[in-house]
Amino acid sequence: MDDNSLAIDIRDLHFSYPDGTPALEGVDLQVHEGARVALIGPNGAGKSTLMLHLNGLLHGQGFIRVLGMELTESNLATIRRQVGLLFQSPDDQLFMPTVFDEVAFAALNAGYSQQQVHEAVGRALDVAGMSGYEKRHPTNLSLGQKKRIALASVLVTDNRMLILDEPSAGLDPAGRRALMGLLAGLDSTLIVATHDLDLAATLCPQTVAISGGRVLRHGDTSEILADTAFLRDCGL
Ligand SMILES: Nc1ncnc2c1ncn2[C@@H]1O[C@H](COP(=O)(O)OP(=O)(O)O)[C@@H](O)[C@H]1O
Ligand SMILES: [Mg+2]
Repeated sequence: MDDNSLAIDIRDLHFSYPDGTPALEGVDLQVHEGARVALIGPNGAGKSTLMLHLNGLLHGQGFIRVLGMELTESNLATIRRQVGLLFQSPDDQLFMPTVFDEVAFAALNAGYSQQQVHEAVGRALDVAGMSGYEKRHPTNLSLGQKKRIALASVLVTDNRMLILDEPSAGLDPAGRRALMGLLAGLDSTLIVATHDLDLAATLCPQTVAISGGRVLRHGDTSEILADTAFLRDCGL
């Protein structure tokens, strides 16, 4: 397949961490633009590592094209403006002194006017259920609140592709419902790493199952989730 309508085109991607731990051992993955894909797999499967490759935070060996662009130094800024990445741990994401600054960051980067920044931050905080927290320090929030702020900071601008690493982990039931409602209403390409199989079934027609740094299956979510023997073998 050589297709510019692919949002993600990965061939034979290998990556080991500096301490020698192998994390990706030949990942092949093609995702069409507009698709919603759940990425499932046990702890240590390589889900987060794979996601960190999609906006160039990690560099393995192999071929990666994102939104039709090869992941080269010269394309990186363009790719990052169009790809929103929610880290698994909000502590890896949040770095500004106030919630407002945190959520405003991507909007400022995208060249929004002062007025547009204020509107976009207000909207994103509202959607994340965190209005009123603008002046708080992101570090001094609960895990679920940090997750909501991190999400707001990703959703503050329009993204052609959203990469969300365990977005519902740590959220309370109301937060999880709000997240699901919100994601259901977006039409960007969506890649969601999750252990929340109900979220996968509700939001994502496609599922990619990975284990040991390799894609084991890529197909209809309903088929994969119905294969209980496979899920059990995967540690799910
Ligand atoms: N910073 C790191 N240094 C060394 N090894 C790591 C690091 N982060 C993850 N790993 C290892 O890489 C593999 C894949 O991890 P990860 O991508 O986080 O899996 P998942 O997100 O599916 O739980 C695991 O074996 C994990 O222990
Ligand atoms: Mg992970």
